[in-house]
Amino acid sequence: MIIRTERETDFDVIDRIHDSAFGHSVESALIRRLRASSGFVKDFSLVAECDGKVVGHVLFTHVTVESPVKSSPAVILAPLAVFSDYRGVGVGTALVAEGIRRTREAGYTLMLVYGHRFYEKKFGFTLAHEQGIFRPNPMPNAPVRMLPLTDGGADGVSGVIKYPKEFRPLIEEWYGKED
Ligand SMILES: CC(C)(COP(=O)(O)OP(=O)(O)OC[C@H]1O[C@@H](n2cnc3c(N)ncnc32)[C@H](O)[C@@H]1OP(=O)(O)O)[C@@H](O)C(=O)NCCC(=O)NCCS
Repeated sequence: MIIRTERETDFDVIDRIHDSAFGHSVESALIRRLRASSGFVKDFSLVAECDGKVVGHVLFTHVTVESPVKSSPAVILAPLAVFSDYRGVGVGTALVAEGIRRTREAGYTLMLVYGHRFYEKKFGFTLAHEQGIFRPNPMPNAPVRMLPLTDGGADGVSGVIKYPKEFRPLIEEWYGKED
């Protein structure tokens, strides 16, 4: 398996990976919008190649955690998907591990993810609300998880996550319409 930065020739297969994993095109549309945005970091859009085929993709994006007194940078992991035929053999783990390495190297101290227990089990993500980090529109049963990327990486960080505007349709898919 190879984990590498995405290339333009991967764009269509990346769409197919997410559309088949999520059953709609909200995530692939998000990725295309983010690619066209000023905050996009190419090195944070990773594919996994197995047998010469692209079978998984993950993207990391800059966000901030806003409190009344402070704005703290963080990186959000979203979306992540692997073709169903290639799941359960470590592709998802390898993509996230490389993302952690690259975002840490770029100076990020905190990673956030909205997602299931996969992240807890493999990487030790914990519930972000226990640290006082919340998503924009609190709703039950949809926890944000966090992983400090350095010792003390989450210290003093609390507030509401502010996503780039390109995330709005996905946030509505995740959390329902914001007030
Ligand atoms: C989640 C996903 C990316 C994992 O990819 P993968 O290549 O199968 O991951 P790995 O092989 O590295 O790890 C598989 C492990 O994750 C666990 N896992 C997968 N989905 C899970 C879930 N929904 N809840 C808890 N654990 C989960 C598996 O049980 C397996 O555990 P094991 O290693 O102890 O057997 C893949 O299942 C997928 O594409 N799912 C659909 C899209 C999705 O849910 N994306 C994440 C959104 S938060």
